[in-house]
Amino acid sequence: MRVECEKGHLLDVKYKKKPNVKLKEVFYSRRNPEGSIFNESGVWRFRELLNFCKIDTENLEDCSNYLVSLDGSEGRQSKPYHMSKVANFIGMERENLWLQPEGYNPSGSFKDNGMASAVTHAKLVKTKKIVCASTGNTSASAGMFAANEGIECDVYIPSGQIAPGKLSQAYQFGAQIIQVVGNFDDALAKSLEDAKNLNGYTVNSINPFRIEGQKTIPYRSLEYMNWEVPDWIVYPGGALGNTTSCGKCLQELYEWGWIKKIPRIAVINAEGADTLSTLYNGKFEETELRWNGGNPNLELIEKYYSFLDSQQIKPKTKATAIQIGKPANIIKALRALETTDGVVTNVSDAEMLDGMSVVGLNGFDCEMASGAVPAGVKKLMEQEIIRKDDKVVGILTGRQKDPMLPVDYHNDPQNRFAIPPKK
Ligand code: F0G
Repeated sequence: MRVECEKGHLLDVKYKKKPNVKLKEVFYSRRNPEGSIFNESGVWRFRELLNFCKIDTENLEDCSNYLVSLDGSEGRQSKPYHMSKVANFIGMERENLWLQPEGYNPSGSFKDNGMASAVTHAKLVKTKKIVCASTGNTSASAGMFAANEGIECDVYIPSGQIAPGKLSQAYQFGAQIIQVVGNFDDALAKSLEDAKNLNGYTVNSINPFRIEGQKTIPYRSLEYMNWEVPDWIVYPGGALGNTTSCGKCLQELYEWGWIKKIPRIAVINAEGADTLSTLYNGKFEETELRWNGGNPNLELIEKYYSFLDSQQIKPKTKATAIQIGKPANIIKALRALETTDGVVTNVSDAEMLDGMSVVGLNGFDCEMASGAVPAGVKKLMEQEIIRKDDKVVGILTGRQKDPMLPVDYHNDPQNRFAIPPKK
């Protein structure tokens, strides 16, 4: 499938018609699913807003023939919650902070939102094999949907650098694993080359149909808040598919008149994998990388990548989900940051572990990369970029799939939230 224009930039899905604002009521009423898995699905409940198949969205047979769903479970359990211990850790009022766990998706991460739509498109074009590179969650999600749809799935993973729970999912769902020596960036390059040569369909977030499904993450948060927008939406940053998707979502909603204000996006990188944060904040060649009305400084990005290569600097963080040095969606993410007056920062591994652990103390589990969200909000509050009375929605992108991380954390009494075992 072609994902790029002639100049090598990623494509977008564009719709001709402006959706009727009355759909808000339709979406709400579908929360009583009346026997339809497409109403139960937190993705397809919003199907009119991602109707790239051009189906009759009220016709169950059309939905069943085209829309890929794991029996309505993708996005079904996702909504924003208040978590008092996290708010306390950050220094915010409980009511001003919402955290939306995406880890309770069927494969355990936010990826199921975009994978449902990407595999829908893959089926539409009669694909026999889907392909992805992954730090673990994408491969779990792709493997799950492929198994359920009876299509083949090849997953390229950086050898020895993904959480055991994620690797085990890819095996369990019968995906063909291809171990790549190197990091995620190397695995992505190899998978794209093979997909081209072997006629595979790429389901990484460079696929514009993935981006469409991921828009339902903010749809669900905003619907829950009666479409009254928060001041901030906060994501961990890896390949930057979420950033891209959220920016597109907010811009569209604003253009349609569905929301009155555009929230600001905050992207939180891991310190050891902070390409976006470095470039956006002018920490390389003292130039702040911006979308710049559609003319971003591409040379600066290339220069930075050459610098990383020549110095043999590899992305390094224990949060392997976001251990990415060359984020494939960087240019679209710059656009999202411009539309939303966004900010980017980074946090250390220790800060992410604290963030992950305090979420646990509220009775929710999330993985280390998601711990970047509370940690990042805390940092931005301390810098007074996020103000005390701002309303913040943070996306907890994935569930804990690295069982020894919390065990090790709690066994070390030095850690802020540790509850060490008794002898
Ligand atoms: N959080 C989790 C739990 C992830 O698995 C990922 C990405 C991200 C955050 C970053 O999101 O790419 O939209 O900026 N995981 C990918 C994978 C790369 O292969 O599973 P992003």
